[in-house]
Amino acid sequence: MSKMMGLLGGTKKPHAVLIPFPSQGHINPFLKLAKLLHSNGFHITFVNTDFNHQRLVKSRGPNALIGFPNFQFETIPDGLPPSNMDSTQSIPALCDSTRKHCLIPFCNLISKLNHSHAPPVTCIFSDGVMSFTIKASQQFGLPNILFWTHSACAFMSFKECKNLMERGLIPLKDANYLTNGHLDSAIDWIPGLKNITLRDLPGIYRTTDPNDILLDFLVEQIEATSKASAIILPTFDALEHDVLNALSTMFPKLYTIGPLELLLVQTSESTFDSIKCNLWKEESECLKWLDSQEPNSVLYVNFGSVIVMRHQQLVELAWGLANSKKKFMWVIRPDLVEGEASILPPEIVEETKDRGLLVGWCPQEQVLKHPAVAGFLTHCGWNSTLESITNGVPLICCPFFNDQTLNCRYISREWAFGMEMDSDNVTRAEVEKLVKELLEGEKGKEMKKKAIEWKKLAQEATHTNGSSFLNLEKLVNELLFVKS
Ligand code: UDX
Repeated sequence: MSKMMGLLGGTKKPHAVLIPFPSQGHINPFLKLAKLLHSNGFHITFVNTDFNHQRLVKSRGPNALIGFPNFQFETIPDGLPPSNMDSTQSIPALCDSTRKHCLIPFCNLISKLNHSHAPPVTCIFSDGVMSFTIKASQQFGLPNILFWTHSACAFMSFKECKNLMERGLIPLKDANYLTNGHLDSAIDWIPGLKNITLRDLPGIYRTTDPNDILLDFLVEQIEATSKASAIILPTFDALEHDVLNALSTMFPKLYTIGPLELLLVQTSESTFDSIKCNLWKEESECLKWLDSQEPNSVLYVNFGSVIVMRHQQLVELAWGLANSKKKFMWVIRPDLVEGEASILPPEIVEETKDRGLLVGWCPQEQVLKHPAVAGFLTHCGWNSTLESITNGVPLICCPFFNDQTLNCRYISREWAFGMEMDSDNVTRAEVEKLVKELLEGEKGKEMKKKAIEWKKLAQEATHTNGSSFLNLEKLVNELLFVKS
């Protein structure tokens, strides 16, 4: 990274505005990108929604987001009516609202920044699903880099949405199509994706609504992608070689820059470690509990930031964990369960009190780094997947929707460091079997070996002269060239 710092010497400080989609799984990778750009000499403006800003202040305190040199936070409204500050906002509602209501406040913000003490804005890094920003960048004559926070496979599957519609495969003709074998149709024509069926593609494709708002939203976002100055993906070439080859012929300015965390550890941005954007209050005492456990003995369980499950699913998972007799640390968000408090039956809590720890939100990356953690039961969000690779942790994959199904498919069948579990039909017996297999079985050992192999490849990609390292360097250089 120091090589890049040199390139900036003597030039006016570039100013990047970063705007993630307002949910945790998008904010986290954007924050890492912001820190990386900062370490490359950029002045940073990080844009949250007013709603999320209030939640961050609530979870981290009023001073959590102020007072860092050349790194500032700003907010814009998300356009939604006020809602409960303690629960996750509806993703479809946010998709619809941001595309309709955020352009004007965002343009006003850029104008304000250009008349502030900060250097003039020189580029916009926008979420791939916040493509209204393209119009703003055109208005201000700025390059717009779209950051899709998903895997390359998922990005390709999003790109094919329109094609699937034109072929009449989605939306489904009626609810019978969910069970009549239609979802098991092989999809063998998407470039770079192999051995997949309709069932593996994003869960939003299973709609029967011909006017589905999310399909319409996705097609619109993908169409805007061709107008971006560049596209970045948080993945690395060795992991998604085939699909990246296919994508690079469609999008010549596509850069893979993952895992961001591994690029970040090579910078001197440790002073910014305290900049965090957790929407829930982090319970870091769980690390002390892990310290008191044997190495490689604990199953970590977490379903990310947006999934809402049925109470019965929670109960089956809980009995499965209890019956496995293994140690576990389970993050149960306060809003994890549909319509009810996320509370386990007291007899399960009693049964597992000597070997199970329940928390509401944890510092996941530190947990995955911890030597006590032997495996991870995950929903396969892309951040969780990459964080597991970064730390060489094998998985039980229990996807619910969106890109999680495709991530699961690749983790279990192509990358071979995880085992599938069906979230629609979770049973305690299946959970118990998979947990034992992961923590003490032969398959578990093989998957651990594979996870370590991927970790090494991720490290190679992010070291000096690795593909992700060089791509970030190239992107930064191009941004400087545009403005000089
Ligand atoms: C969803 C999608 O499934 C994901 O693929 C997409 O890119 C974003 O939206 P989400 O449920 O947020 O994701 O999961 P994930 O992508 O895994 O992101 C969750 C983030 O929150 C991770 O960075 C994780 O480290 C962090 N986290 C989660 C915590 O720090 N603590 C927790 O207790 C839970």
